[in-house]
Amino acid sequence: MKKILGLVALTLSAATMASPGSQWLTVDNQILAKIRPNLNKSVQTVFTGEGASVVKLSAQEIEKLSHVIHHDLHRCGGFIQHSSEAEAIEAITSQGEMHFAKRAIFADYTIDQQGVAAPMVSQVAEKTIRDMILKLSDFNTRFYKSETGVKSSEFIRDTWANLAKKRNDVKVELYNHKSWPQASIIMTITGSEKPEEIVIVGGHADSIAGMFGGNGRAPGADDNASGIATITEVIRILMNSDFKPKRTIQFMGYAAEEVGLLGSKEIAQSYKQKSQKVIGVMQLDMTLKKGTVDKDIVMMADYTNGAQNEFLGRLIDEYVKVSWGYSRCGYGCSDHASWTANGFPASIPFESTMEDINRSIHTAKDTLESAGGDAKHAAKFAKLATAFVVELAN
Ligand code: BES
Ligand code: ZN
Repeated sequence: MKKILGLVALTLSAATMASPGSQWLTVDNQILAKIRPNLNKSVQTVFTGEGASVVKLSAQEIEKLSHVIHHDLHRCGGFIQHSSEAEAIEAITSQGEMHFAKRAIFADYTIDQQGVAAPMVSQVAEKTIRDMILKLSDFNTRFYKSETGVKSSEFIRDTWANLAKKRNDVKVELYNHKSWPQASIIMTITGSEKPEEIVIVGGHADSIAGMFGGNGRAPGADDNASGIATITEVIRILMNSDFKPKRTIQFMGYAAEEVGLLGSKEIAQSYKQKSQKVIGVMQLDMTLKKGTVDKDIVMMADYTNGAQNEFLGRLIDEYVKVSWGYSRCGYGCSDHASWTANGFPASIPFESTMEDINRSIHTAKDTLESAGGDAKHAAKFAKLATAFVVELAN
């Protein structure tokens, strides 16, 4: 015990001596072991927890690290960026919160809304999803620091607001972030009986290509125009029906996911800080390309809530009637991990297993064409998300 406290004290005092521009990342230990030989000596490991470590490095070194992971390991990411050493250590030591988010039962998972949900599920249309994917991938890039990244978030806000224009129980807002220009988008349908209980469906609004992001072409059709277009289809159907949920439903488009889950982290932290009662979170990130022959919808079993995942499986059987199964990201691969880390129940129904992922993501080749040319796969996720919000919020 003494030893551990000593280590923490040592690392905290090191934090106060940090040079300006330092960043802290939490990295999976297995990944860190593999990439360590290719990293600069100035990249210091300042804390090592059971499954992950905290490394301190400069912004340039983060880009190098991201490149090393993609290039040498042929996989994505595997790190989360933090603004201080204390926050990074907290992220890997606050296992209590994480354990709770994964194991606790947050809602009644009885499926009993068939009369309301089934007619709405049957309205899911491939064409509207496809059109929205094309509009989003027309932005040159949706990179969180780019001008078109700012514009694309405003476009999502306008699209959602337009769908909601006849409703006075619905509001659509930009959620501004202090440290970068791209806003997140939040639509709120206020519940009629238990408004304090919140059901969330979200996906990231930004895109990225190459090592530096910047202004290079990043259509991000699969990653993640598909998730935003899937959510937009659920919104279209909800706004076309006279469904008034008992609980509050929120749809979210997160800024800056591709650079360390930044937007969702700020939002989930503020929900925790305000003790908001979130009873379920679904993340839609990559719904376009069917990659696994015998599994249409794949639930990532790590960084997610087990009971809610099992509920999603039953919703698929009841409403979507396609095959499903489990896989693992191996790291906090998308915004659901921000919710889990802050003690909320989250799931990510995904387009394929991890082994079969779309290899064009994060390149200029992530287009609708390269993912098969239609949004039939995404339509399955729109059905699932529609069933999820109706069953959980009503
Ligand atoms: N859509 C990806 C996550 C993903 C990729 C999930 C492949 C499953 C299979 C997401 O947008 C992304 O790229 N995430 C980053 C991680 C983040 C912490 C920077 C990644 O995986 O590199
Ligand atoms: Zn991505």
